[in-house]
Amino acid sequence: MKKVTINTLRKMKQAGERISMLTAYDASFARLLDRSGIEILLVGDSLGMVVQGHDSTLPVTMDQMVYHCAAVSRATEHAHVVGDLPFGSYQASADEAVKNAMRLVSEGGAEAVKLEGGAEYAEVVRRIARAGVPVMGHIGLTPQSVHKLGGYVVQGRSEEKAQKLIADARALEDAGCYALILEMMPADLAAEITASVDIPVIGIGAGAGCDGQVLVCYDLLGMNPDFAPKFVKKYLDLAALIGGAVAKYRDEVKQGAFPGPEHSFSSSPEPQKHLPQLYSIPGKG
Ligand code: KIV
Repeated sequence: MKKVTINTLRKMKQAGERISMLTAYDASFARLLDRSGIEILLVGDSLGMVVQGHDSTLPVTMDQMVYHCAAVSRATEHAHVVGDLPFGSYQASADEAVKNAMRLVSEGGAEAVKLEGGAEYAEVVRRIARAGVPVMGHIGLTPQSVHKLGGYVVQGRSEEKAQKLIADARALEDAGCYALILEMMPADLAAEITASVDIPVIGIGAGAGCDGQVLVCYDLLGMNPDFAPKFVKKYLDLAALIGGAVAKYRDEVKQGAFPGPEHSFSSSPEPQKHLPQLYSIPGKG
């Protein structure tokens, strides 16, 4: 498989080929998603919720994003890796935004960064892009503004708000964004925005008229039985599978059935004296 770059994504839009994107937060998941042919892996600040257990993305720090980006990029060969700029890392000044975007690339191995916000962030986008870092925009429901928006609610339902989102998309493209995320908005509005810009547009809760789709990987795999929003399709019930496997392990430990002889070492020398490594490293034997 060839490495996916921003040029690949632009060509896919031009050819009408849909783009698949998922979040990834660690090396083990990144390796699996990458090998499945997903074009973009987003190290999203959604990790604050699904990995760290917060009720918003707001507490996520730059150091944490760098740490998770590095884990994902280490295990990714094919997909384009995007690192999310967390709350507080780009809002105060363009200088800080450039510095933090560069950290995601130089320390985290990301190939692009994503930030939330519309035309008001055009200058920040321009400055980061001028520093050589591709920027993905994110409009519609922007979770870092949850308090300003009054909750996680569908955006752009009034004509005025829809027009503002269309103008935001164009302003971000003009400022140098190479791609856009549209989150939680009416499908017809998302389709209109997608048709009105030349850059690839990826939707989440934004209908089928976008150039591609993104989901939080834990959501599509069904890791949380209590979370079933309208825009998510669960392709697997991983919560049930994990629960079943772990209960079986627990029972076998209690019955003394695990470890059996095949998982135990004897005192006499064996053909395989050393394991290549103690624990599984994504991508290695
Ligand atoms: O943080 C994230 O995972 C995101 C996606 C849901 C688009 O921003």
